[in-house]
Amino acid sequence: MRDKEFACRCCNANPDNRRGFIAGAVAALVAVGSALRPSTALAAGDAIRDAAPQPGDFLTWQAKSKRGPHLTLDDLKMNARQLVALPVDPASGTVRDGSRFNQIMLTRLDTGELDEATLARSAEGVVAYSAMCTHDACPVSSWDGDTRQYVCPCHQSRFDATAGGNLVSGPAYRPLPALPLRLSGNGELVVDAPFTARVGGGR
Ligand code: FES
Repeated sequence: MRDKEFACRCCNANPDNRRGFIAGAVAALVAVGSALRPSTALAAGDAIRDAAPQPGDFLTWQAKSKRGPHLTLDDLKMNARQLVALPVDPASGTVRDGSRFNQIMLTRLDTGELDEATLARSAEGVVAYSAMCTHDACPVSSWDGDTRQYVCPCHQSRFDATAGGNLVSGPAYRPLPALPLRLSGNGELVVDAPFTARVGGGR
C-alpha cells in the first residue's frame, strides 16, 4: 500500500528514481550545452576573422611578430614602401586574418600630391588599398618611390597611389580597390568605409 501511494501514476516509478532521472536529464542537457558553446563561439570568431574590413576597424601589422598595437600616423614614414596591415574588430580585438583578401597596403604621401578623391579618402595623407593585384591576385609588394606607384612583381602591373590606385601599365584589369581611412582622437588609423570595389583578380 505504501509503495503504491508513492508510485508515479504515469510511469509507475518510485519518486526517488524519478528525481534521479530528472537530475540525470538536466546534467545531460548541461553537458550538451557546454559542448555546443565552444563550437558556437569558434564559429562566431571565424566569422569575425573572415569578414572584410568594416567601418570602425583599427589596423595592425600583418606580420605576426608585430601584430597587436593599433597603427597610427607615426608608424608610417613619408613615401616609404607600403606597410601591409590587417583590420582589427574594435569590439573583440580580433585581427581579421581569415582571408588574404583582407591585406591592406598603407602608404603615407604628401597631401599635395593626392588627387581630390584620393585625398578625401586618406587620413592626413595615408592612403590605403587592397594588397591583392587586380590581375591574378598576387600580392602587390613592390614600390616605386619616384613615381609613387605600386608594382606587382608577378607581371609588372603598376598602380598610381596618388590617383585612386589607377592602373598605369601592365595586364591588370582594374584600379586597386581603395579603403577610406580616418584618424581616431588618439591618432590611430581607422577604417572609414568598405573597399570601394571588389577585391581580387579579374575584371
Ligand atoms: S598578378 Fe599582378 S600583374 Fe599579374
